[in-house]
Amino acid sequence: MVRSKIVIEHLNLWFDDNHVLKNINLHIPEQAVTAIMGPSGCGKSTLLRCINRMNDFIPGTRIEGHILIDGKDIYHDTINVYELRKRVGMVFQKPNPFPKSIFENVAYGLKIHGIRDRKLLHEKVRKALIDANLWDEIKNRLHEPALELSGGQQQRLCIARALAVEPEIILLDEPASALDPISTAKLEELIRKLREKYTIVIVTHNLQQAARVSDYTAFMLMGEIVEFDVTTKIFTNPKDRRTENYLMGKFG
Ligand SMILES: Nc1ncnc2c1ncn2[C@@H]1O[C@H](COP(=O)(O)OP(=O)(O)OP(=O)(O)O)[C@@H](O)[C@H]1O
Ligand SMILES: [Mg+2]
Repeated sequence: MVRSKIVIEHLNLWFDDNHVLKNINLHIPEQAVTAIMGPSGCGKSTLLRCINRMNDFIPGTRIEGHILIDGKDIYHDTINVYELRKRVGMVFQKPNPFPKSIFENVAYGLKIHGIRDRKLLHEKVRKALIDANLWDEIKNRLHEPALELSGGQQQRLCIARALAVEPEIILLDEPASALDPISTAKLEELIRKLREKYTIVIVTHNLQQAARVSDYTAFMLMGEIVEFDVTTKIFTNPKDRRTENYLMGKFG
């Protein structure tokens, strides 16, 4: 039996009177890659952002239902959102390194969490960069500006920045959509490697990418989860006609 790291129960979300997420129920397995796919505007990013409470600050947002991580409701009053985001890292569509050095980008979160010791900082930065498959490319340029890296390197740097604080879950929102094919291939290789240690949820509307990198796939349409299953099953033998139509390119 696969263990669920994240359990989403009866989740509904409204932006003012726009009912964007409709009774979402989803069990996201531990140490696996789960892809969320579906046409533009169906609510993929919004759902992803619920998992580290990134929608909380958008005015007019109303959320009902539950998201449990390791059995604990992250929307409970006693949850410290700051601690939650340490456990649940996020990487966005466009690489967004800080205008600082490569080293400082990765050290940033560690410093916020109180690590001051130079040697320890260096060790943790190095480890995060190795884990993000970036170390060999940049080990001699640690103190150069991060913004001088290529787009694909910047995106792996953003992953290293997320890994540095040792999260359990990594949320990726279309992380390769701004990258060229070679950078995309490197990023996909990295994502497959990371599932050995982390629970990964990736939003993509690139079907081939979902098929290549994920173990499980959820198909969303107009705020609902139409189908969730093992990726090979979704792609070869979907249960729902709407999933089949989407895969055949009939819409989206
Ligand atoms: N900050 C916001 N304020 C108000 N409405 C929003 C906000 N963000 C998203 N929405 C609305 O929520 C719905 C879902 O948007 P979302 O960004 O989650 O879709 P998506 O599936 O990620 O689309 P895409 O593939 O284009 O990124 C849309 O109707 C969108 O207009
Ligand atoms: Mg989106």
